Amino acid sequence: MGQIKHIGIVGAGQMGRGIAQVGIQSGFTVTLFDIGESPLTKGVDFIKAQLNKGVEKSKWSQSEADSAFARLKPSTELKALADCHLVIEAATENKQIKFNLFKQLDEIVQKEAILASNTSSISITEIAAVTNRASKVAGMHFMNPVPVMKLVEGIRGLETSEETFKQVEEVATQMGKTFVKAKDMPGFAVNRILMPMINEAVYALYEGLATVEDIDAAMKLGTNQPMGPLTLADFIGLDTCLAIMEVLFEGFSDTKYRPCPLLKQYVAAGRLGRKNGKGFYDY
Ligand code: CAA
Repeated sequence: MGQIKHIGIVGAGQMGRGIAQVGIQSGFTVTLFDIGESPLTKGVDFIKAQLNKGVEKSKWSQSEADSAFARLKPSTELKALADCHLVIEAATENKQIKFNLFKQLDEIVQKEAILASNTSSISITEIAAVTNRASKVAGMHFMNPVPVMKLVEGIRGLETSEETFKQVEEVATQMGKTFVKAKDMPGFAVNRILMPMINEAVYALYEGLATVEDIDAAMKLGTNQPMGPLTLADFIGLDTCLAIMEVLFEGFSDTKYRPCPLLKQYVAAGRLGRKNGKGFYDY
């Protein structure tokens, strides 16, 4: 594969639209795919609004915003990704959905292209195994909110080639991100460390150690984190936090990753965090 200029993104949700925005602002042509017309329109409108906000805040000029927006190609047809040099999948965090998507992408996208996943916890080796190009599959794990967070965690599957990994690193660097390399182990690096901290904060609440507000204040003011762990859990989504803890628990077969019963209860009660207006806090 030559130089990567055209990126495809699967999923116009929170992560997909953030990656698309950073992509077009870094000079890439981006085809943004979503299966639904409504989420696609919402994603495109959000990007447009973010570009306009940046103009108002003098972060970039109107003409820079306009030329970036002109590089965005929205589509509800997966076939629109056929000519991409790199496709970054940012669909729902569900194994079967991702496996189906990668099987389809493998057939549609040109053979030399790289297929990457923004998964936060599903094995890149397993995703690669459903394709006929395992050496051209890698993990590119962006953080939320994508335009603000400086990290891309690069995950190398068992078969990922040196060249593929180098190319995704170059793309992340061109996007202004720092690329940290992690092996394909449950939770990779960020969630291996972040989620047990969040889970422990939920245990602290469960055991009555301190209130929600005091646990957050302790960690925010005491360890200089921008958000306390329970605020951050609401921000990420309590269902996502639980799903990642389950991946760690099952993946390592180690009780130190046991999801807190209170976290399970909150998810069962439909308290999913900011996305539906109630979690450890009400929004
Ligand atoms: N999209 C784009 N820009 C955003 C944004 C969004 N969704 N949210 C905030 N911003 C920008 C604001 O425009 C603002 O920019 P300027 O300073 O240039 O004006 C800047 O970020 C700061 O925003 P605010 O002043 O509104 O709020 P803040 O100072 O409290 O910062 C925050 C908000 C950046 C989210 C900060 O609280 C933070 O860094 N929190 C921690 C986030 C984090 O840890 N993310 C990783 C989660 S883990 C993950 O994503 C991986 C996983 O697999 C679960």
